[in-house]
This record gives sequence, structure tokens and C-alpha cells, in this order.
Amino acid sequence: MTGTPETMPLRFSGYFRKKTGKPDTFLTQVGPGTPGGEYQRRFWHPVGYVEELGKVPLRVRALGEDLVLFRAGNGEIGCLMMHCCHRNTSLEYGLVEEIGLRCCYHGRLFAPDGTILEIPGDAHAERMMKETSQGAYPVHVYYGMIFTYMGPPDRIPVFPDIDRMTLPGIKIVPRTRFVWPCNWMQIKENSLDPYHTAVLHVIPQMRGAERNFADEFGETPFITWTETPGGCMYLCARKVDDNIWVRSAETYGANLHIISSIFESGRERKEATVPFMTLWTLPVDDETSINFYFSHVLENEPMSWEKRDEMELYGQNDERPYAERQWIPGDHDAMVSQGGVNPHELEHLGSQDRGVTLFRRYIRRGIHAVQDGGDPEGFYMNQSQIAATYANDHVAPLSELGGEPTDDRVMRAYCEKIAQDYFRKAPMERLRGKLKSPV
Ligand SMILES: [Fe+2]
Repeated sequence: MTGTPETMPLRFSGYFRKKTGKPDTFLTQVGPGTPGGEYQRRFWHPVGYVEELGKVPLRVRALGEDLVLFRAGNGEIGCLMMHCCHRNTSLEYGLVEEIGLRCCYHGRLFAPDGTILEIPGDAHAERMMKETSQGAYPVHVYYGMIFTYMGPPDRIPVFPDIDRMTLPGIKIVPRTRFVWPCNWMQIKENSLDPYHTAVLHVIPQMRGAERNFADEFGETPFITWTETPGGCMYLCARKVDDNIWVRSAETYGANLHIISSIFESGRERKEATVPFMTLWTLPVDDETSINFYFSHVLENEPMSWEKRDEMELYGQNDERPYAERQWIPGDHDAMVSQGGVNPHELEHLGSQDRGVTLFRRYIRRGIHAVQDGGDPEGFYMNQSQIAATYANDHVAPLSELGGEPTDDRVMRAYCEKIAQDYFRKAPMERLRGKLKSPV
């Protein structure tokens, strides 16, 4: 029995509630041939780190497909479909050789691009090598992270070398994986939801643990959301002392999101802040996702690396005991507990979820673009087309606000003004000039 909005009682309504609901599979599915999967296949996805490639292949899974990565003796990196095209033996047991990967079962040797280099003992080898190949995908190595592109080979996009990767005095440090047993949308939606920092990320402090986010995040912000040339962004404003602090974070294309420092307090005035973390979410399959990420580290970083490492990782995995995660939950617990694939049908969204709806609209539009034979937003064939990024902390005197910091309209209007300022001159462009001198 299911209630309708008219007949559903508000008190003790459990009996009448829908017990199961459907996700929006158009958005959430990533497997081959699905609308969402075809969309995802138009972007470069991270699948591993160069330092993980050794004497044996690395088995990975991406967009519902099993793959192996390997680095041949000559240094070339390959990404092959996992099952050998001969008899389907897994190439995770393959032998890494000077020019390719050899299947352990009957010895077919594959080049990194999947062409067959040898078929030992077969009289028709020459002809067979011209007729078939092992499925393979192109790879791109970027600061030690390996990306692959699994889409149509006539539409291989340029790798988005975004503005914050090339700043003087800031190192790019390839990091670890956050593995989430849930759909990729849940992770991206979280990154456009700054309300949760004022609830979830306050719990450690409430319960006597050290916080990873600065205390100032605990105040509920005033927020606007907007699309950018590359994706979606929030800007949230808080009054801190006699400052107005506007923090922005963004998604970019299907799989990238960017945040500035979680230690920012809004107390020091600035028009742009140094980058902090750049994260890609790999949809492994519909119910598993992995964040691969870079930390941006100042050459004269004041915080110890051990401390920063600990704070970045806090709450992002299930390595803490269950009892501790129940007492002080983190992002991992909030997102994963929504379900393997969050049943959107059972949600009751409110005005604080406008980032979620904006992102879903953006992705839906991208999927439609691919279905219609075009390219999605955030997809670029030339480096000159790459959009700027906007994750930033802007801290200005309160007098700039032009109204009361308790007035919702004043705060939102200020956020909108900052967004327009960024579109005229992006934060990293503002920062670049300053970084020429030591930070
Ligand atoms: Fe969070």
C-alpha cells in the first residue's frame, strides 16, 4: 500500500512510504552502450599511477570494463582490454616485455596500441595479425597519473591542461585513491554542496576530535550556483570578522572537481588563493567510483606534509572502525550510505540542493549532446579552447558588500558579482602575477 501526498500522514508514515525507488539511470549508468556510458567515454579518465606499473600488469576497471595497464621495457604505456583476444585468458597474468605484453597462455604478444606483434607457432600468423587485434585504448600520462580515453578514436579530446597546473612555485603531487562503493554522481553532487560542510564537517569538533576543515566552515553560508564555461560552480559567502569571504568550488566536464584549501579561514584578505586539490572521479562501474587526485603544494608550504596528508584523507575512506565512523562520520559515510546507486525517486530535494539539480541538468544535457551526434560541454579538441577554472577563496573588506551580511539577497548578489568578476579575469590569472615573486 502506498500513500499519496494527500493521504499520507506526517506522523508514523513508515507503513505508507515507498520502500524502494529507482535512480535516474540515464544519468547514473556508465557501462558500454548506455547513454551515460557513451557520454563518459568522451572524456579522459584516470586509471592508475605510473609508479604502480612494475614487472607485472596492473588490473583496473573503468566504465564497466576490465582492463590491464602495463609499461613495456621501452617505456611505452599500454591500456588493453583484459581478456586476450585469442582464448579470453586474462592479461593480468601477462608477461611484460621490451615492446609489449605477452599473454601467459599461448604467447600472443601485443603492442601498447593493441596490434598483435607475434603469434607463436601459427602458420597463418602473418595474415591473422593483419585481420585482428587486441582491444586497446590510448593513454596520457600527466604528472605521474595515467589517463585513458575509451571513446570513439576519431573524437579523442585534448587532455585538459587546466590553468592551475602550471603555476610557478607550486608542485603537483600525485596522490592516492579514494574508493567509494557508490555511483559517481553521488561524489560529484557532494562537491557542489557546500551546506554539508556546515553540518557533516562540524561533527568532529562537536565530538571532541580534531577537525580537518577550518572552524569557519561551520557557519552556514549564503550560496549561489552558476554554470561556468567548463562546468558548474558554487560561490558561498560568509562574514568573518570584518571580512566577507567568498569560497568557490567547481565541477568541470564529467569527471573533474576542484576545491581550494580546506584550511582557509577567511581572515586574511586576498583576491585569489593557491590551488589545493584537483580530483577526478573515475566511474569504475555503476556502483563503484574512485577519486584520483593531485595535491598542489607550495614549495615553502608551512604545514607539515604528514599533517596535510592526514587531514586530506580524514573521512574519505572506510578504514576507520565502524563505531568511530558512526560517532564521527565523514564524506565517505554520507555518500556511500545513500546506496550503491542513490534512488533519486525517494529524495525530497530542497533549495539547498540547487547544486545537485544544476549538476544533473548539466550532465543530462551532455548525454543528449552525445546522443545527437555532437560533443558535450567540457570536451575540447584543442588546448586553446580549454576553459578557465574558478575554485578560489576571495576575502575582501566587509564594506565591499554594500549591505548587511545577514541579508540573503545582499550576500547572494555579492556572490553573483564575484562570479562575473571571475569570468572577466579568472582567479588563476590573478594569482599568476603574484606568484612570480616568492609566495
Ligand atoms: Fe565534504
